[in-house]
Amino acid sequence: MVARPIIIDCDPGQDDAVALLLAFASPELDVVAVTTVAGNVPLELTARNARCVCELAGRPDVAVYAGCPRPILRRLETAERVHGATGLDGADLPEPTMPLASGHAVEFLIERLMASDGDVTLAAMGPLTNLALAVVEEPRIVPRIREIVLMGGGMGPGNVTAAAEFNIHTDPHAAAVVFSAGAPLTMIGLDVTLRAIATPERVKVISALRRPAAAVVAAMLETHLARAAKRPGGRGTALHDPCVIAYLLRPELFEARPMHVAVETASPLTLGQTVVDRAGVSGEPPNANVVVDIDADGFFRLLTERLGRL
Ligand code: RIB
Ligand code: CA
Repeated sequence: MVARPIIIDCDPGQDDAVALLLAFASPELDVVAVTTVAGNVPLELTARNARCVCELAGRPDVAVYAGCPRPILRRLETAERVHGATGLDGADLPEPTMPLASGHAVEFLIERLMASDGDVTLAAMGPLTNLALAVVEEPRIVPRIREIVLMGGGMGPGNVTAAAEFNIHTDPHAAAVVFSAGAPLTMIGLDVTLRAIATPERVKVISALRRPAAAVVAAMLETHLARAAKRPGGRGTALHDPCVIAYLLRPELFEARPMHVAVETASPLTLGQTVVDRAGVSGEPPNANVVVDIDADGFFRLLTERLGRL
């Protein structure tokens, strides 16, 4: 089996961390590098957290690059209320000893893609600032991207505003560039990832693995369970970003349809909304493979089995 080369662009963030661990536990994937972006927490922390997770997974060899410290136009609005002050609330990890890779993530993306023969997949799970700037600086990378699989947007309500999901809302202008770039793109939005809920029962199964990475994942998820328990009907936390990696590993766990997606970049009311043309009335050709369903039990079986390997 030839492992599929991927670059993970992320803003760890607890669910990004789980996605990284799932990728590292899966021999089907070759994590060529990790690029980090400001999002859930500032760049200094996302770049730190990514290295903490690489070392937890026993992968200090993986190059971790720091990318953009802010969105293209908007002011950075972080999400410590969700992920904690460190971005990895609940995970008591030591400071990383592996250094950051030298050079900016955007330059790395350009160099690595220009040197490739089109076999690299971009797994994006944060604001799309790095990817957008790479496309703008060097458009010739677009035909060299095998596929972009991203967590972001959605066809239903948002989680930051009534209309917008965090990754897209944080940098809607970057998202507009990426969705219109022309690279093969699969979008996994909130309406799907909100069905990948780490319930208390599922967290118990992960905790019972008694493995180092699983223990950290359970500890992070338990911080959410405590908060969710205080919310009426709260039953856990959605594992948004691991859905990107699960899709690469087991696409049969998901259902997707080609549709046109536009990103709102102007309206104060709906800024960052992904407008998905489900009825095909826009006259615009599909520019994304939009995931519309997930086998959540199958997803958690995959995640649990793989965490048991670390
Ligand atoms: O809306 C969920 C997304 O925003 C996830 O990627 C989470 O990590 C945050 O970045
Ligand atoms: Ca993320």
